[in-house]
Amino acid sequence: MSSVSVVCVLSIVLLWQSSLGNGNPLFRKSRWIVGEDGRRVKLACVNWVSHLQPVFAEGLGKKSVSEISKDIKSNGFNCVRFTWPTDLATNNTLASLTVRRNFESLGLYHAIPGIAANNPDLIDLPIIEAYERVVASMDENGVMVILDNHLTKPGWCCDRTDGNGFFGDRYFDPEIWIEGLVKMATLFRPYKNVVGMSLRNELRGPNQTTGSWFKYMPRGAEAVNAANPNVLVILSGLSFDKDLSFLRNQKVKTSERLANKLVFEFHWYSFTDGSAWINGNHNEICGTITGNVKQNVGFLLDEPYNYPVFLSEFGIDERGGDLNGIRYLSCLMAVMAELDLDWALWTLQGDYYLRQDTVELNEVYGLLNQNWSNIRNTTFLHRISAIQQPLKGPGYSDVTPYTKLFHPAAGLCLLRKSPGDAHELVLGSCAESESWEYTDEGTLNLKGTGLGLRAIGVGNPVVVGKLRNSSDEKWSLKSSSKLHIASQISGKDGFVEVCLDAGENGIVASYPCTCLDGDKTCDASGQWFKMVTSTIKPTAEITRF
Ligand SMILES: *[C@@H]1O[C@H](CO)[C@@H](O)[C@H](O)[C@H]1NC(C)=O
Ligand SMILES: *[C@@H]1O[C@H](CO)[C@@H](O)[C@H](O)[C@H]1NC(C)=O
Ligand SMILES: *[C@@H]1O[C@H](CO)[C@@H](O)[C@H](O)[C@H]1NC(C)=O
Ligand SMILES: *[C@@H]1O[C@H](CO)[C@@H](O)[C@H](O)[C@H]1NC(C)=O
Ligand SMILES: *[C@@H]1O[C@H](CO)[C@@H](O)[C@H](O)[C@H]1NC(C)=O
Repeated sequence: MSSVSVVCVLSIVLLWQSSLGNGNPLFRKSRWIVGEDGRRVKLACVNWVSHLQPVFAEGLGKKSVSEISKDIKSNGFNCVRFTWPTDLATNNTLASLTVRRNFESLGLYHAIPGIAANNPDLIDLPIIEAYERVVASMDENGVMVILDNHLTKPGWCCDRTDGNGFFGDRYFDPEIWIEGLVKMATLFRPYKNVVGMSLRNELRGPNQTTGSWFKYMPRGAEAVNAANPNVLVILSGLSFDKDLSFLRNQKVKTSERLANKLVFEFHWYSFTDGSAWINGNHNEICGTITGNVKQNVGFLLDEPYNYPVFLSEFGIDERGGDLNGIRYLSCLMAVMAELDLDWALWTLQGDYYLRQDTVELNEVYGLLNQNWSNIRNTTFLHRISAIQQPLKGPGYSDVTPYTKLFHPAAGLCLLRKSPGDAHELVLGSCAESESWEYTDEGTLNLKGTGLGLRAIGVGNPVVVGKLRNSSDEKWSLKSSSKLHIASQISGKDGFVEVCLDAGENGIVASYPCTCLDGDKTCDASGQWFKMVTSTIKPTAEITRF
């Protein structure tokens, strides 16, 4: 495991630099986000909260802003979705309070010495200037920023009836919202790392209608684009940003300049579907929910829409006890790899100065631990590292398309332990994946060779061998999730169906397929492999030859 991780980290660092895209601003090119040079820039972001009552980026009482910016970058993220409340832009009384005064007014005296010690340059700045300085620090450290209008009144979000949910709600005056967007777009125009603006987080509630969506969202978008033509303009859908299906019936009409900047965002958590992940069979649920996500959002990637889709919030309780979340994550990772989406993890912060009346609330979804000293769960980070790199897209067509066999439960891919050895297939860094080719005959060939993947007995490691037209080298996709890859081994009592199965030790063997349907208690992800297409030359080939 440790050698795999080292390779993994090195390749992440190397590839990260090439995918940052210094060529800001960014544009939409068909379904891809690209830099000025036309080359894809994949957004691999993390959310960083600055929209609660202190209106101050979380964690600055525990670490300096530059240390946090460096942490973001060194863990393979190239951008931050940085939240703000409308009031920060439209209420001068609030915006001009110093950080210190605002903490005092909230009674958060305990946090002040930590902020003064770690960020002495920020504590006596007006909160709007402190917000700018955090953006500037990310710029200095090569981190792109998406400014996310999270709600109107500073505080925790989101409730159906909190008055921040939809145009016309108690705290959501569309005119003030547009005024705030324009102010932020203008203020951040000089910041080259501000590459996008999310116009409003999680529209929702009893007052939501597609009519009002079409009335206000394009207006907000044009206003932002007029004030700051550099930024991507990112639009969320209805029902807590789960639903963009209404765009099937009606197009968003925009100016041509804006059309080249338009991106759609959506959110997907385990609890989006209640406790579905533990109330049903893992495969059946994954198949159904993946279908819904594609139906409600994913269609935008394809003809005739061709928009980039940004999964701007996803995440799990990283303590490991949340079975619903663990099951969801494997399924989501398969979809993320398949569609090669841009994304933002929820979330960076290990804790909050104040959230929902609790001081120093631990954020169990946080990438960083409660005291911001370290990664909360390195296993989790390694998993999602696998989707930080692009798999394809403009400027990334080094080679003709090939297949990676991605194991979402580990964030690793199937490869030979060493190039010459056909008999040890292991899970390793996806950047080093073999170039597999899934043929019409159902064989999984090592591209350009007469060799293919073969099952050689129940419980035995799979191998690569010379193709000879036998059943044990023909692979098909099983179950509603289509994430089981199965073959037939002939035995003394006829054929036995086996599936690729990843063991704890990273060795991939063939075992009877389990958890295909019905059973609600099982976790199917040990046998899940997603065939994903890539056109990026694997680094293994680069280093091996
Ligand atoms: C503006 O902010 C101040 C300071 O937080 C607050 O007291 C006031 O109510 C706000 N005004 C509006 C109109 O929201
Ligand atoms: C919905 O709109 C009505 C009428 O404007 C308003 O009274 C109500 O508070 C709104 N609902 C929410 C959740 O804000
Ligand atoms: C990290 O998450 C995994 C599951 O994703 C869990 O098994 C493990 O216990 C977690 N580790 C820590 C330190 O919380
Ligand atoms: C931070 O928290 C970790 C565990 O969450 C603990 O091991 C470490 O000692 C803490 N460090 C400080 C400086 O408090
Ligand atoms: C492969 O085997 C199948 C039957 O198992 C046979 O129908 C087919 O013709 C064979 N193909 C080749 C190329 O030999």
